Amino acid sequence: MDVRMFVSGRRVKKWQFIQLFATCFVLSLMFFWIPIDNHIVSHMKSYSYRYLINSYNFVNDSLSLKRSEDGVPRYQYLINHEDKCQMQDVLLLLFVKTAPENYNRRSAIRKTWGNEKYVCSQLNANIKTLFVLGTPSDPLIRERLQKRLVWEDKMYNDIIQQDFADSFYNLTLKFLLQFSWANRFCPHAKFLMTADDDIFIHMPNLIEYLQSLERIGVQDFWVGRVHRGAPPVRDKRSKYYVSYEMYQWPAYPDYTAGAAYVISGDVAAKVYEASQTLNSSLYIDDVFMGLCANKIGIVPQYHVFFSGEGKTPYHPCIYEKMMTSHGHVEDLQDLWTDATDPKIGLT
Ligand SMILES: *[C@@H]1O[C@H](CO)[C@@H](O)[C@H](O)[C@H]1NC(C)=O
Ligand SMILES: *[C@@H]1O[C@H](CO)[C@@H](O)[C@H](O)[C@H]1NC(C)=O
Ligand SMILES: *[C@@H]1O[C@H](CO)[C@@H](O)[C@H](O)[C@H]1NC(C)=O
Repeated sequence: MDVRMFVSGRRVKKWQFIQLFATCFVLSLMFFWIPIDNHIVSHMKSYSYRYLINSYNFVNDSLSLKRSEDGVPRYQYLINHEDKCQMQDVLLLLFVKTAPENYNRRSAIRKTWGNEKYVCSQLNANIKTLFVLGTPSDPLIRERLQKRLVWEDKMYNDIIQQDFADSFYNLTLKFLLQFSWANRFCPHAKFLMTADDDIFIHMPNLIEYLQSLERIGVQDFWVGRVHRGAPPVRDKRSKYYVSYEMYQWPAYPDYTAGAAYVISGDVAAKVYEASQTLNSSLYIDDVFMGLCANKIGIVPQYHVFFSGEGKTPYHPCIYEKMMTSHGHVEDLQDLWTDATDPKIGLT
């Protein structure tokens, strides 16, 4: 373009500028419209479908198995503690989803929020903490890691392991492991919680909350950070990609973030039954939980102090009330010290 064209006065310059700007705008729209369009449309669709999906019994034949034993995978226990839950009065069965190599995280959890003895003596409640895992997936270190796990379990008696490869895409197998274990070995627990191994749980708050719910005999209870009308990711490059074959609708039923949620014992039993009748190829475990719950007509409750995948910003006023926060590994011990310090709370 000839620069001299612009020299003939301010007006022309301004007009040219506007034209140039408009052209760029249109061009950029053309470039970005397709992704924007998909995004907006899929969200609009998902919000309107949400009402349909949550109110209609949509988990129909296409997700259900023909016979209940058709597709539910069966794996053997490699490490188990059948008697762990034998005592009658169990308030909370706490499953921590962990990977074979995460010894340090388990170790920190045993000393902090997963500590059964602390909860029993200081909070006057029985919890059972179990670490659930599959087998090490890296063949190079599998044997060595497995030996270490067996040793670790001899020390602490708190590992449950089945013989499927422990990986992101096998999370639904880990989900099935938790619910079948609970159903078989701990059906009397008042509440069941599933948690990631990189979260912080404010046990004093959680136990107090659960005890108050137990007193009113709560049922059909499911609480956490709720995802409403979330659309499936259809981008093949994403870790969370879900094909239409796996899931054909534009939105998932409401579900809680898998990082931490709590259900009552009656829901655990019903979800287990439902899980045995559904195709478990959908590997996102918290979505799968949503499908099971949808099938039995249970909806999740939102709780502002369950942070889901989010990390709660550190502020004493928030931490005083919170239940769970995600993304804590290094600072776990400090948070726990604060949460259990009798001086805090008086101030
Ligand atoms: C299940 O839902 C899908 C999608 O809405 C529909 O195409 C299909 O016909 C339904 N199947 C049954 C048996 O209702
Ligand atoms: C899931 O576990 C099974 C059984 O060990 C294994 O065959 C499969 O490869 C695993 N899947 C992934 C994606 O790791
Ligand atoms: C489960 O769904 C997948 C598609 O995601 C399909 O390939 C598989 O055959 C189904 N399994 C059963 C037992 O219906």
